[in-house]
Amino acid sequence: MTRLNINGKTINVTADPEMPLLWVLRDVVGMTGTKFGCGAALCGACTVHLDGAPVRSCQTPLSAVGTAAVTTIEGLSASPIGRKLQDAWVTLDVPQCGYCQAGQLMSAAALLKETPKPTDADIDAAMNGNLCRCATYIRIRAAIKQAAGVTA
Ligand code: FES
Ligand code: FES
Repeated sequence: MTRLNINGKTINVTADPEMPLLWVLRDVVGMTGTKFGCGAALCGACTVHLDGAPVRSCQTPLSAVGTAAVTTIEGLSASPIGRKLQDAWVTLDVPQCGYCQAGQLMSAAALLKETPKPTDADIDAAMNGNLCRCATYIRIRAAIKQAAGVTA
């Protein structure tokens, strides 16, 4: 049994310590907001936060989580930054198919936590590993700026 802190709640899971956190979230805990894309840390669809830092949950074994606070897309709206980002995503109609967007939002939230007023270069650096097959990159950038209150 492993005790996890997910979105502020303690959840006990029974799973192989080597199971990727993504599988634990989706298949053991039943939180399916975090998406499986590549399974190889190449696309960012599976991004969650460990103690506020973005990680690729497909390449993070359960054994590496320890006591870190896990935040998933289901818990993003608990923070003011998360709510501002979600509002901007809706206002600017960012998603197309939507598949990558949970990961995009989690990376954006980690960015704004560290850098509340990001430059274009800051956004590029933080969002670089989050791929979008629908090429919504321009709207993602605009929504991050809107949430941050910087001029688009
Ligand atoms: S599914 Fe984890 S980075 Fe693609
Ligand atoms: S919105 Fe379709 S993959 Fe990004």
